[in-house]
Amino acid sequence: MELDVLEKANPKALKEKLREKVFRLKKERNAYLVAHNYQNFEVQEVADILGDSLALSKAAIGTGAAVIVFCGVDFMAESAKILNPEKTVILPVREADCPMALMATADRLREKKKEFPDAAVVCYVNSSAEVKAESDIACTSSNAVQIVKSLPHRQILFVPDKNLGHYVRRFCPEKEIILWSGFCTTHIRVTAEDVLRTKAKYPGAPFIAHPECPPDVIDLADHVCSTSGFSPYIAKSRADTFIIGTEMGMIFKLKKDHPTKRFIVPTEQFVCQTMKMTTLGWVAHALEVLEHRIEIPEGIRQRAEKTLRRMMDVSKDHPNAVIASY
Ligand code: 13P
Ligand code: SF4
Repeated sequence: MELDVLEKANPKALKEKLREKVFRLKKERNAYLVAHNYQNFEVQEVADILGDSLALSKAAIGTGAAVIVFCGVDFMAESAKILNPEKTVILPVREADCPMALMATADRLREKKKEFPDAAVVCYVNSSAEVKAESDIACTSSNAVQIVKSLPHRQILFVPDKNLGHYVRRFCPEKEIILWSGFCTTHIRVTAEDVLRTKAKYPGAPFIAHPECPPDVIDLADHVCSTSGFSPYIAKSRADTFIIGTEMGMIFKLKKDHPTKRFIVPTEQFVCQTMKMTTLGWVAHALEVLEHRIEIPEGIRQRAEKTLRRMMDVSKDHPNAVIASY
């Protein structure tokens, strides 16, 4: 039966066919399938590795695979290519970008650096290869405080996420952190009122927040962590209900890791549209045609690689670099 006929007749059978296709092509292409914690469940289920940005950057290095299929957004696939120039790195959906990463350009960063010549430039990995090439060191949401503290500079130009930069400030009073004006278009949608309303409805439920949330939301959090920090915190807690302050895709993994616990989101706006573009069908298609390939001009790649590798050296023993593999 043709696939479209199959879809009308039996969507479950279509999904099974697509899964089979993904597993078969993964073998044939010698491909390694990497997925971010926010991906659709059907994509998480076929991934070789699931994790946060730091874990996935590390996981992408040194696999024996010839092809890395990165199910996430463009800057993540770019990081994989920066660290694995000899491999074919595929982003299944070309349009899957990160709106926050687009809020900083290399030109504007060069201008800003002239204003603050003594500052070290720390770029959140949610940035383009060009911006990484202009930066001194990268960070992720799980190691940002550690990275900033590791630098001898007093002045830090933190790009592009003002909310993560604001969060880092709380732990680094000795530093002057100059914020860029970028933000995550998903995490900005949760308000302190949403959280207070949800806390009132579920008294005693800990609120776990991603540091991309606005500062007044972070003020209400019982725990703040990267996407890989949620599950370990829940595992240690005695509570049975948790308020989840990050993108909803996280719930799939949390439900799988903790089937008896209950997860509540403070707003149903917590959806990253571009993370959700990648479907099982697109993954199968990407493996078939090996598109969309990530290419980075070599000069930029080499400079961006230094920025990423400096981060990895500083955070090589970071405890939050949890890799959950299905
Ligand atoms: P993590 O590194 O915590 O997975 O965050 C990536 C991201 O884009 C969050 O919005
Ligand atoms: Fe970018 Fe925010 Fe989506 Fe993460 S959740 S990929 S930071 S827009």
